[in-house]
Amino acid sequence: MDTIAPETLISHLEWRYATKRFDPGQKIPDATWRTLEDTLVLAPSSFGLQPFKLVVVTDPALKAKLRLASWDQPQLTECSHAVIFARRQKTTEADIDRFVARIAEVRGVTKESLAAYRGYMTGALVGGPLEPIADLWAARQAYIALGAFLTSAALLGVDTCPMEGFVPDKVDEVLGLTGTGFGSVVIATAGYRSAEDKYASLAKVRFPKETLIDRR
Ligand SMILES: Cc1cc2nc3c(=O)[nH]c(=O)nc-3n(C[C@H](O)[C@H](O)[C@H](O)COP(=O)(O)O)c2cc1C
Repeated sequence: MDTIAPETLISHLEWRYATKRFDPGQKIPDATWRTLEDTLVLAPSSFGLQPFKLVVVTDPALKAKLRLASWDQPQLTECSHAVIFARRQKTTEADIDRFVARIAEVRGVTKESLAAYRGYMTGALVGGPLEPIADLWAARQAYIALGAFLTSAALLGVDTCPMEGFVPDKVDEVLGLTGTGFGSVVIATAGYRSAEDKYASLAKVRFPKETLIDRR
C-alpha cells in the first residue's frame, strides 16, 4: 500500500474549501467521478449497514429545481455533480436480512453462521436502544460518507461544497424521495472552483488545535 507524504495530505486539506462558485463549464471527468462514487461506497458505517441512498444529479433541469429548494445557492446549478445524501428513516428486520444475505453472498458463508451478528443488529435497531433514534443514527452514517467524499475529492483536486442549506421536504419532492422511506440530510456539490470565487483565497478560520484536542 502506497502512502502519501504528510505534508502532501495537509496541503490538499488546506486547498479544500467550501466552494461557493463553481466554473459551470468544467465537468468532472467520468473516471474521476467513478472513483468519487467508490469513496461513497467504501465509507464505513455502523455494523456496515449503509442505511442511506445517494442520488447523483448532473441533469441541468433537475439541478435548477434543486437550487430553488436550496435557498437559491448557485453551487447547485454551477457544479458538475451534486450528491444528495438521503438517510433511511427506519431500519427494519427486512433491511437487516438483506444485509445478512449480502454478507453471505460476498464472503461465501451461510446466513445461519451469521445468526449471532444478525441478533446483535436487530437487538440494537429493532426494538432496541437505537430504534427511537434510527433516523438520526442513519443520518450520522450518511455524514461519514460525506466526510470521506470531501477528503477524497480534495486529494483528487476536485472542489466541493457540503450543504445543509436546503429545504429537505422540497428536495425530497424534487427527487421523488417523498414516501420512499429515505429523506435528504445533506448535499455535496462537486466540480472546479471559478476564478471569481473570492472565498478560495480567504484564510481558514479554525480554533487552535490545543482548544480542540485534549491529549491524555
Ligand atoms: C454539514 C455542512 C453543511 C454546510 N452547509 C453549507 C451551505 O449550505 N452552503 C455553503 O455555502 N456552505 C455550507 N457549509 C460550508 C461551511 O460553512 C464551511 O465548511 C465552514 O465554514 C468551514 O470552511 P471551509 O470548509 O471553507 O474550510 C456547510 C458545511 C458543512 C460541514
